[in-house]
Amino acid sequence: MKNRRLTSYNATLLVATAFLCSANRAMAHEPTTKRSSLVDEHERRLVEITTDYQLTVAPLIQKACADCHSGDTQYPWYSMMPGISQWIKHDIEEARKHIEFSNGYPFQSHATPLEDLIAVERVVKDGSMPPLRYRLMHGKARLTEQEKKSIIDWSRRGQQMLRAEMARSAGAE
Ligand code: HEC
Repeated sequence: MKNRRLTSYNATLLVATAFLCSANRAMAHEPTTKRSSLVDEHERRLVEITTDYQLTVAPLIQKACADCHSGDTQYPWYSMMPGISQWIKHDIEEARKHIEFSNGYPFQSHATPLEDLIAVERVVKDGSMPPLRYRLMHGKARLTEQEKKSIIDWSRRGQQMLRAEMARSAGAE
């Protein structure tokens, strides 16, 4: 199941990349407006961050975050215990309201892609996610220091890229 999901992520990525490349080629033959090349640049950045995400971060998010922040919950044995199932259901509802990792980056949320990167860096750095109550019950979902660093580094690279690109497009207006 997980492999299938990853394969379909990769397929989507390939299609997106192929589409952007062909759009780039098509545009090279036509006079483009400044506006459309800026939009193009923004999308290219997002694809770059997404590719980076799939390669280095997606498996870690799958391991430590997906139970609550995706439609792919592996319900633990204790979810059958009276009182607990409601509690877990509530946790998942709340988690998915904030941020949803099911479809890769850019994530689904009420914030911007940049704000999402900042929030992910913050919660991984301060150790507030996954929540302690979950870490206690799911030893395998714990992130090692190296894994935390991979997520934080990816998030910072993404933030840098988006900020640079935003500054460029602001300068061009
Ligand atoms: C046990 C379920 C659970 C797991 C596992 C979990 N989260 Fe959460 N997450 C929540 C809940 C519930 C909220 C909303 C309430 C809150 O902030 O505590 C939330 C909120 C968030 C937010 C928004 C918080 C903010 O202050 O903006 C981010 C970002 C987030 N989680 C990232 C992650 C990441 C990254 C992981 C994995 C490393 C993860 N979560 C794992 C339950 C979970």
